[in-house]
Amino acid sequence: MGEYGRGSNDVNGIVDGRHQMLLSSCDDLEAASAFGWALIARGVSDRKSAFHTPVVATCGLDGGPEVRTVVLRGADLGRWTVRFHTDRRSGKVAALTASPRIAMQFYCARSKVQLRLNGVATLHSDDAIAEIAWRNSRPMSRACYAQIRAPGAVIAEPELGAASDAQGEEFGRANFVAVEVAVQRFEWLYLAFGGHRRAEFRRDDQGVVTGRWLAP
Ligand SMILES: Cc1cc2nc3c(=O)[nH]c(=O)nc-3n(C[C@H](O)[C@H](O)[C@H](O)COP(=O)(O)O)c2cc1C
Repeated sequence: MGEYGRGSNDVNGIVDGRHQMLLSSCDDLEAASAFGWALIARGVSDRKSAFHTPVVATCGLDGGPEVRTVVLRGADLGRWTVRFHTDRRSGKVAALTASPRIAMQFYCARSKVQLRLNGVATLHSDDAIAEIAWRNSRPMSRACYAQIRAPGAVIAEPELGAASDAQGEEFGRANFVAVEVAVQRFEWLYLAFGGHRRAEFRRDDQGVVTGRWLAP
């Protein structure tokens, strides 16, 4: 397994322009990891990016797998963390409270790159991480958390889930949870005409990243 140091924030420009060239000659583990993180960073800021809406998998309370789409809200390439937001009353919060192990999947058809992340989720509701995330959320996003009925509650009519049911900001803030995922491992798969490439990357407790190629 090759070791090439700690996570880096230096991914500017990797996605733009040069990505096809980079990928067509991508036999470099460090470049593959950097490119994966560059796609994630782009996913946070670019709402049109396929990486903006990853799939999140949790272990359900009945032991079965559960998946759903979320919006990617943050990523720290140096710490190998990603963040999304959710409602304290949602099923995924109950699932993550019981078992914080989490997996995420991203796929960008344009780059032909799939990333599969495994890690541990931390739920933030009344700390600085939650407060900053809440303050940086747009009013439209905040309104989702102010619904009087909990997500997944059975309702008699579909309109009962409409925005007119919303309570005040304070109620919404109390339901708001920022989920930070400490990524421990991710897999990078690139479907290339000239031969697929698959790699696995791990980050240890000291922040040292190692990578190795896998058979696609
Ligand atoms: C494009 C898209 C983006 C979504 N973003 C979020 C999100 O950021 N957070 C969230 O909790 N649910 C989001 N959802 C809804 C979830 O997919 C899911 O239906 C909901 O959170 C209930 O999931 P749960 O019962 O497993 O908690 C999104 C759905 C779609 C289709």
